[in-house]
Amino acid sequence: MIAVLHTGDAERGLLWQAQFAEHLPEVQFRCSGDAGALKDVRYLVAWTLDAGLIASLPSLEVVFSIGAGVDQLDMSMVPPGVRVVRMIESGITTTMAEYVAMAALALHRDLPFYLAQQRAGLWSPQPVLLCSERSIGVMGLGELGQASLEKLRALGFRTLGWSRSGANIEGTRCFAGQGELGAFLGQSQILVNLLPLTDDTRGFLCRDLFDRLPQGAGLINVARGGHLIEADLLDALASGQLRHAVLDVADPEPLPEGHPFHSHPAIMLTPHVAGVTRRETAVHALIANVRRAMAGEPMHGEVDRSRGY
Ligand code: NAP
Ligand code: GLV
Repeated sequence: MIAVLHTGDAERGLLWQAQFAEHLPEVQFRCSGDAGALKDVRYLVAWTLDAGLIASLPSLEVVFSIGAGVDQLDMSMVPPGVRVVRMIESGITTTMAEYVAMAALALHRDLPFYLAQQRAGLWSPQPVLLCSERSIGVMGLGELGQASLEKLRALGFRTLGWSRSGANIEGTRCFAGQGELGAFLGQSQILVNLLPLTDDTRGFLCRDLFDRLPQGAGLINVARGGHLIEADLLDALASGQLRHAVLDVADPEPLPEGHPFHSHPAIMLTPHVAGVTRRETAVHALIANVRRAMAGEPMHGEVDRSRGY
């Protein structure tokens, strides 16, 4: 008997159970309330991990993240031979690209400023630029960074991209590594963060980085709250080095009551909804990967555990 064990949202578990029964009946899909014999479980599907549960799964081969990120999985709990896979599926990719487009247009057209103005009963139009007169830089050129760039190009923005190893993307000027970071940042009037959260990227959105952006730049953080040094953002907004920010993620989530981000006039905050795993599409990505694992083939989105993404 080969089993998948799903932890988390019960409604999603039941829907995915039905899909496995239809499309991969040789694998039993079990939900955490009804896990059955744990020695059968080769595949675990989870958002976060439980050390006791992991220790009770002697046949575990693969941990599948329910989301695109894997930083929320405590890898120290996962035995060395177990593979870890992030979720790549059209629902997350499409919703993320749409959110980034929305946030980019909001900053491009000065929406935080006008919302604050409306609350204050003021009426003061600002100069208007075309999208083709605005440069947006995306950090992280993986699944979500590239999809977001495609939407930004379709809107007419001048686009730049940066990642560890660089990329070749038609219509986007790409930069690679620390050596080219300064040139990339210096031209990014709006900066989008789509890096994974790793030891190398924690706290990356900090004073030093903000100082290398053009004065009055905008920031969009749709990756993880741990990328951002909050005090540095508040200072950069106060000094005018940054004009405004859209934040979809925070640390911790939710932010505590009274946190300055809740009421800051130059910050638009959303509750981690930029890229959302769609149950209906994600289950097919999962089934395809379980088939690959059973056939001994490489899976889509397999994480290099040594680098953390
Ligand atoms: P991905 O496909 O793994 O791409 C990661 C990209 O980041 C790659 O281009 C990689 O460069 C680059 N990178 C990693 N470490 C780097 C470093 N130290 N310096 C420079 N570049 C680095 O990831 P993804 O699927 O696009 O997802 C990105 C992140 O989005 C996730 O990890 C998650 O945190 C976040 N996310 C947020 C939401 C939300 O709702 N807010 C939803 C989904 C995902 P190389 O190609 O050179 O390795
Ligand atoms: C959400 O944040 C994800 O990682 O999919």
